[in-house]
Amino acid sequence: MTISGKAIVAGVMGWPVGHSRSPVLHNFWLARAGIDGAYIPMAVPPDRLGEALRALPALGFAGTNVTIPHKEAAFAAVDEADGIARRIGAVNTVVVRGDGALSGSNTDAFGFVEALRSRLGTWSGTGIAAAVLGAGGAARAIVAALQDEGAAEIRLVNRTRGRADALCERFGAPLVAVDWHEREDALEGAALVVNTTSLGMAGGAPLELRLDGLPAEAVVNDIVYTPLETPLLAAARARGCRAVDGLEMLLHQARPGFAAWYGAEPVVDDALRSHVAVDLLG
Ligand code: ATR
Repeated sequence: MTISGKAIVAGVMGWPVGHSRSPVLHNFWLARAGIDGAYIPMAVPPDRLGEALRALPALGFAGTNVTIPHKEAAFAAVDEADGIARRIGAVNTVVVRGDGALSGSNTDAFGFVEALRSRLGTWSGTGIAAAVLGAGGAARAIVAALQDEGAAEIRLVNRTRGRADALCERFGAPLVAVDWHEREDALEGAALVVNTTSLGMAGGAPLELRLDGLPAEAVVNDIVYTPLETPLLAAARARGCRAVDGLEMLLHQARPGFAAWYGAEPVVDDALRSHVAVDLLG
């Protein structure tokens, strides 16, 4: 695939940005669709994010993703943010409008729901009790998604109780804060458990969570994707629960940006999953 002088250009801004899998997956989609386009990594220091975003229209970029640690700053920097970005308080996808204004969205909530639907065939959060571990940026997106799905109860379990309380205040019903040492109680009768903490990541601290109280019908989702099969997911499968890995959300959250910049609907399938999974191992 050659990139011509007319190529549509987008990318991802992060600091550091080397760990981002977004270039691998967007360029896979571009090649597959034969689109004259490119998606590039941009290492942008935190104190220069506003400047970097402002340069996009002048450079002729279609837009950009923003990743850690820039999502909150991007929310503050864009000219307009959509409803879901405002609720989450963070932007991960920026589109340069025809008039040069920057339009911000957050596709993490969409990616979370689409990941469950695609891996499970069908999934609805309506009326369920869900346990969410963690209260950082990823948890905000997942809580917003579960609220939109019509969950009956969202049990927010976090090591630092104050952060869980702050999220309950921000989002309101049906969130309830649960102390970290009571995390196993939060699994009683839950239809969904989501780990949004970094626990369980290769080389890091493990997530200590006994699943004895979790119904076998429950779905367990880990947003950690290195390794793909975390100890939490392995334990869930051993219990007979359905398990959804973190790679799936990573792939689906990328879809709206790709569609907006390059004008084609990308498809998440096994070929893409394998392509990105191989890169994760490398
Ligand atoms: P992100 O934006 O990716 O969600 P974050 O804001 O740094 O990242 O949040 C990380 C989450 O992992 C937090 O909920 C954090 O708990 P605290 O709020 O108490 O910091 C959680 N976390 C990280 N290390 C942890 C550990 N060793 N035990 C329990 N929770 C941990």
